[in-house]
Amino acid sequence: MKTVFVLNGPNLNRLGSREPEIYGNQTLAQIAKALDAQGSALGVSIDFRQTNSESELVGWLHEATDSGSDVILNPAAFTHYSYAVRDAAAELTSRGSKLIEVHLSNPHAREDFRRTSVISPIATGVIAGFGAASYSLALSQLALG
Ligand code: DQA
Repeated sequence: MKTVFVLNGPNLNRLGSREPEIYGNQTLAQIAKALDAQGSALGVSIDFRQTNSESELVGWLHEATDSGSDVILNPAAFTHYSYAVRDAAAELTSRGSKLIEVHLSNPHAREDFRRTSVISPIATGVIAGFGAASYSLALSQLALG
């Protein structure tokens, strides 16, 4: 069975209590559970992780690259400035895996600094602004092959 890595960056472990007017009321555990169910229905196994550490996230991208897995990535604040995450993601996509950048909110409708993504230029695609559905839309797309 194909495995999709779902990787989440800093502060996303705070979903549920973190600025719910922007990020919604669902916890990350609830999002993970819904994706797992969707994955089972689609015949895709989900490896769902969250970290507040840039180094750990880079390591997970290397792991996905080496196993030839597609990735759904919410880089959170790393989106806007982490060249280390970008470079790891660039190796992944250049080796033929797909990477969909997702965001719960629409960063383009928020503060100026959020309008820059250093990840988008090397991503296969970007889905933003649909809350937890951003993740499920990405998974539906990756399940197509
Ligand atoms: C986010 C948007 C980022 O700007 C922010 O730093 C986050 C969450 C989102 O999912 O909307 O932590 O990636």
